[in-house]
Amino acid sequence: MKPRSGLIALTSLALLTAGVGSALAAEGSGTASDGKALLEKNCGRCHSLEATGESPLKGAPPLREVYLRYPIEQLEEGFAEGMGSRHRDMPQIQFSPEQVSGILNYLGSITGVEPSRRPRAAVPDETEPP
Ligand code: HEC
Repeated sequence: MKPRSGLIALTSLALLTAGVGSALAAEGSGTASDGKALLEKNCGRCHSLEATGESPLKGAPPLREVYLRYPIEQLEEGFAEGMGSRHRDMPQIQFSPEQVSGILNYLGSITGVEPSRRPRAAVPDETEPP
């Protein structure tokens, strides 16, 4: 009989799950330079990605303005679900939470307003009943 093999299998399973857990914990930690690369690849031919200047495509708002206009929560949802997919001209793209956080970190760096200092949710509209 081999009473030990079961224990060893269990231990390696635990190590494996610990590894998966820390990989998941890394979500939401995208860097600003990752975010900029994603925007350059997917959005830069139409939207301005810089701290100043007009967009290449007339009518596409610079992304720094989009960033400052919407609460973080809406930006996160919008990017993750394929932001702007309702706009005919825009590509249908979905970003992972890590990619979204990188994009927000980048937009925070060019606007000087870190994502953590932006409001998360829209201020409730007082004219509407709850
Ligand atoms: C082919 C050109 C094109 C590309 C590529 C593009 N966009 Fe746009 N986007 C536009 C245009 C034009 C508008 C404004 C007109 C409209 O709202 O339909 C717009 C509007 C938006 C808006 C809405 C702004 C508002 O105030 O409602 C967001 C957010 C946005 N784009 C994000 C992105 C992101 C993020 C990417 C890259 C993943 C991207 N766009 C790629 C053309 C583009």
